[in-house]
Amino acid sequence: MSAKKRVVLLGATGSIGENTLNVIRHASDDLELIGIAGNSRSEELAGIAREFNVPHAALADESAYRESRNGGIFPPGCRLACGEEGLTELATLPDADIVLIATSGTAALRPALAAINAGRQIALANKEILVLAGKFVTEAARRHHVRLLPVDSEHNALFQCLEGRQPEEVERLILTASGGAFIDWPPEDLNRVTPRDALAHPNWSMGPKITVDSATMANKGLEMIEAYWLFDVEPRQIDVVLHRQSIIHSLVQLIDGSILAQLSPPSMTFPIQYALMYPKRVPGIQRSLDFTRIQRLDIEPVSGERYPCLSLARQALEAGGIAPAIFNTANEIAVNAFLANSLAFLEIPKVIDRALERLENFEPQTLDDVLCLEEAVRRTASELIENKAWKKTS
Ligand SMILES: NC(=O)c1ccc[n+]([C@@H]2O[C@H](COP(=O)([O-])OP(=O)(O)OC[C@H]3O[C@@H](n4cnc5c(N)ncnc54)[C@H](OP(=O)(O)O)[C@@H]3O)[C@@H](O)[C@H]2O)c1
Repeated sequence: MSAKKRVVLLGATGSIGENTLNVIRHASDDLELIGIAGNSRSEELAGIAREFNVPHAALADESAYRESRNGGIFPPGCRLACGEEGLTELATLPDADIVLIATSGTAALRPALAAINAGRQIALANKEILVLAGKFVTEAARRHHVRLLPVDSEHNALFQCLEGRQPEEVERLILTASGGAFIDWPPEDLNRVTPRDALAHPNWSMGPKITVDSATMANKGLEMIEAYWLFDVEPRQIDVVLHRQSIIHSLVQLIDGSILAQLSPPSMTFPIQYALMYPKRVPGIQRSLDFTRIQRLDIEPVSGERYPCLSLARQALEAGGIAPAIFNTANEIAVNAFLANSLAFLEIPKVIDRALERLENFEPQTLDDVLCLEEAVRRTASELIENKAWKKTS
């Protein structure tokens, strides 16, 4: 029997996927890729299947799946599956040890739950799943004794700082935020921001949605909600500070006043490797920090006025129920509209605010409640944008 950890990677063709493949190339004595999934970029997925000799692959998009089958682009030893069912098949492969969920959006929600119910270890990069259905995902993980290993760099940092600590010893979790592309722009210039400006992140290279979310700090808002579900703390125990250099990935304040931090260069290979190898430490892919080259490490307070999306996320977190899910989906629709040049940058929080106002909050009882809600929020947010109704007061 192989002693390698067998990895299934959902979202193999994305930015986290690419970093994960680098980690697996580097740690090929410890890690083996046995399943890969993407949405529609079949050529890229087939290339990964060939390079890593992967026996199982899935494409969520049905026409991409059909074209790939007909074109025979996947290697002969690779079984190709399709759609949500295909992703679920991969996520529950009996010989998988760990499933890394790096798809964007909520497409992998059911496959993730299936993996948890099948007792697979989960490394979670995707934050939308927890924001939308944190209650159901964490309940399932508790029931099946599955540890959710965070890949998001901030939560991975918190996870590392919290190791060996008891919940009652923790005073606050402090998430760091780079401040995104416009940290130094005068507020009056923000109304002329273009998608191109928003996609130029100062420190990280990521997918377009998350890069815009960094500029608005909606991403940090989603991370607050993610931290709430992952670490079982009260909303008031979660803080955010600005840290421009993206070297301190987050901090934990203990009740005696001590603050622990995790530092590494701003590269996702660090948290990905830690999550995949957990609890083992092995030499990293990249060099660590060189303090002879780091001039300074700044920590500053965040202005709620400058980052209204962050304040809205906190409101949603404190309100509970479906409010975080409304925040997430309304933000997604607004960001897509911004990227398509049909909504201004400063209008993103207005759409979220109006969607939170319009939709009544309630406590979801089933996963279907949440999934139906997602559709309703999509409709509401799209209507708000189309009719420019975010301008109206209620
Ligand atoms: N990028 C980062 O540094 C970073 C850091 C922390 C957390 N995250 C989180 O990690 C997740 C992935 O981010 P990313 O930046 O890697 O995104 P990305 O570059 O846009 O990649 C998204 C991946 O998901 C796949 N995908 C999209 N829709 C899908 C669907 N309906 N069904 C199945 N697969 C689908 C894509 O496949 P195709 O290529 O075929 O479209 C691609 O493999 C997000 O939740 C993000 O918030 C990212």
